[in-house]
Amino acid sequence: MSKLNVVVLYGGRSGEHEISLRSAEAVIAAMNPDKYQVSRYFIDLEGQWEPGPILPVPGAHPDIDVVFPVLHGTFGEDGTVQGLLELADLPYVGANVLASAVSMDKDIMKRVCRDRGLPVVDYVVLSRDDIDAAAVAAQLPFPMFVKPANLGSSVGISKAHDLAELEAALKLAAEFDRKIIVERGVEGREFECGVLGNEHPAASIPCEILPSKEFYDYEDKYLLNLAKVELPAKLSEEDTAEMRRLAVACYEAVGCEGMGRVDFLREASTGKLFINEINTIPGFTSISMYPRMWEYTGIPYRDLIDHLIELALERHAQKKATRFARQV
Ligand SMILES: Nc1ncnc2c1ncn2[C@@H]1O[C@H](COP(=O)(O)OP(=O)(O)O)[C@@H](O)[C@H]1O
Ligand SMILES: [Mg+2]
Repeated sequence: MSKLNVVVLYGGRSGEHEISLRSAEAVIAAMNPDKYQVSRYFIDLEGQWEPGPILPVPGAHPDIDVVFPVLHGTFGEDGTVQGLLELADLPYVGANVLASAVSMDKDIMKRVCRDRGLPVVDYVVLSRDDIDAAAVAAQLPFPMFVKPANLGSSVGISKAHDLAELEAALKLAAEFDRKIIVERGVEGREFECGVLGNEHPAASIPCEILPSKEFYDYEDKYLLNLAKVELPAKLSEEDTAEMRRLAVACYEAVGCEGMGRVDFLREASTGKLFINEINTIPGFTSISMYPRMWEYTGIPYRDLIDHLIELALERHAQKKATRFARQV
């Protein structure tokens, strides 16, 4: 059997560049060498490609069977690289252009979910040029979470307990994005749930994240190593089932394919679940929760990679069978 040529695309012009390096190493290490011939394509922090860029031209890369973008955040998880791969007519792992872009934008993603009646927290959107902390304070109760709309890894996010903190938080978020979102803070617990599939996605058994700090910020995620994880999440059967249902519903609402990790907040006072966000290229490091949740659910890391590659090839084949012009 001839091996499948897989490009692992990693690094990236993103605040999550370092995480991508770690994810890519773990993905490559888990790939079955009897099945796959792996090529590394590295994108540095300036956006330069090593050994060279993938060209946006069909047929330009006859040596590539499938691309696995292991890029987190900007210029990788947001639809930009997916657009390049569509132009190149190459199969690739994970969400398409639209689902990637929608999921990256914390405002659009919530709107799409709300349209399907899915639970998201109350929030307001501000433009960098039009910041008015007092107006926000009139609309939402404290504490609030202030976020750049289009980043990840908690970069630029703060929790504001009063007007002065809100002002500082808005200023900080404005450094990272033109669009800022301010959410009502949910006091309670935090969960994650993996989703896998194209037309018939399935949800993993969820886990609980127990931040070591007031919230799961960048330090806590990647530097301190103190946040704890409970897998399986200690939840009632009904809550677990509801979380898995909502995870799939969110995945379908944004049009995700391949994989996604849906993150939840559960309010202590009401027991209500809120969808916080969906990540279309979740962490894949050896300690990342997406592969660990699937492992726990019955799909070992190596099989997960096989599945993801099959899903990529399947989608590409289906697309090929779809007419895009009146006559070809
Ligand atoms: N509305 C909220 N209420 C309570 N905690 C929140 C809220 N929004 C975010 N958080 C906390 O902040 C962390 C980072 O926010 P998140 O929206 O997940 O951003 P990122 O895309 O950077 O991961 C979450 O993991 C959670 O701990
Ligand atoms: Mg998050």
